[in-house]
Amino acid sequence: MQESVLSSRRSPPDPEEVEENGDESKTRKNTTPFATRVSKHASAALSGQCAAVLIFLLILLATAASFLISRPVVCVSPYDSLARTALFGATLDGLASDFGSLGVPWCRSKQGKVVEWTRKDLLKGLEEFVPIYETRPIKNNMYGMGFDHSFGLWFMARWLKPDLMIESGAFKGHSTWVLRQAMPETRIISLSPRHPEKYLKKGPAYVDGNCTYFAGKDFVDFGSVDWASVMKKHGISDLSRVLVFFDDHQNELKRLKQALKAGFLHLIFEDNYDTGTGDHYSLRQICDQDYIRGGGHSCFRDSDEARIRMKRKKFWEKAVDRDELCGGDEEWWGVRGYMRDDFNHSNKAISYDEHFQNSRFVESALDVYWELPPVAGPSLTHQTRYDPARASDPIIEDGRFGLFQRLGLARLGTSVFNGYTQMVYVQISASS
Ligand SMILES: *[C@@H]1O[C@H](CO)[C@@H](O)[C@H](O)[C@H]1NC(C)=O
Ligand SMILES: *[C@@H]1O[C@H](CO)[C@@H](O)[C@H](O)[C@H]1NC(C)=O
Repeated sequence: MQESVLSSRRSPPDPEEVEENGDESKTRKNTTPFATRVSKHASAALSGQCAAVLIFLLILLATAASFLISRPVVCVSPYDSLARTALFGATLDGLASDFGSLGVPWCRSKQGKVVEWTRKDLLKGLEEFVPIYETRPIKNNMYGMGFDHSFGLWFMARWLKPDLMIESGAFKGHSTWVLRQAMPETRIISLSPRHPEKYLKKGPAYVDGNCTYFAGKDFVDFGSVDWASVMKKHGISDLSRVLVFFDDHQNELKRLKQALKAGFLHLIFEDNYDTGTGDHYSLRQICDQDYIRGGGHSCFRDSDEARIRMKRKKFWEKAVDRDELCGGDEEWWGVRGYMRDDFNHSNKAISYDEHFQNSRFVESALDVYWELPPVAGPSLTHQTRYDPARASDPIIEDGRFGLFQRLGLARLGTSVFNGYTQMVYVQISASS
């Protein structure tokens, strides 16, 4: 952790400080106008001692009331959205600078190539996507993609305009539906241990009419598919025209190698978990290295990083403090030194050296690495899970409520903003 990174960004709001400020501003806001109004009214109607006593009592009452009103800020859980709103209300400008304050690890690409799209394109995309998202068949996609990633997948599929889309891990079919909205006429291949039609019996799910399902009894793992023959069957000769989407909770190093071997170039990983979190080894974990800004970690208990992490843990469910980050022998890479795979059904301890070699391998294959930014700042979305300190600047910054509202985002339920896990688009090619 570089000291300059930490000090150039403002440190996260101190809960005690915020509570104090919150109380003060509430007291000012609530009592002063009320008391003034009451006292004017009262002095017109009454006179002498009686009025003075009444005013005194009313002011006392108003102060007590405002004290009671502001009390919840102190009492409720920090994850509570009301309390959060109160906190953010008091420290809005401190919040905007929160993004990336603990660093945002990224993977280096071979030539430093970047994506074609800009923030402006993303904003334009959002405007189009919100009304589409509102027609989604699966409204409550618990354990599935929320709004941020649905938007990211839709935006990239539409931008890249592939001739074929492959998804590994379909669950109830929400991502299949998103891909279909992006490309109405393009063939989809969907690999999933359980067929989405199974979910249809119990509730909302999506089964696509122009999709080849390798699902249920026909399920084949992405790494075991004979891609040359499947591509031939689908009339695909140019693999650079194929987009592969992984939402299968498998070790991403394994998937990257399998995709390279098959010759695919464009990949999107849904769950790109941060170091210390998640159920599989992710690209972000792999590229979390000392030489990357925001990468490499200190397990020293008295470090700046440990102190900041401890504070942030109080605010964000997915923030990890020093004790969660580090294993018994100070292994901070992967998840406490483990390379998790297959929904954490498998995990393997790896040495720092192996971890380092993994990143060298990924970098040798990488042409582009792009993490989808969160759609909007937490004061707008009221999300309580991901820690902005480890995320890049949102598309819509905190404070821009007008824009948030104009795009229709204020109409969506707040739970749809809770699923952000750094979805990433990569372009790969075999190193020569
Ligand atoms: C499949 O796609 C073709 C166009 O490519 C379209 O004409 C047809 O209606 C689609 N079928 C279904 C079931 O959506
Ligand atoms: C992952 O697996 C390990 C080892 O089996 C276990 O100790 C750990 O609690 C698991 N974590 C989660 C989040 O399931």
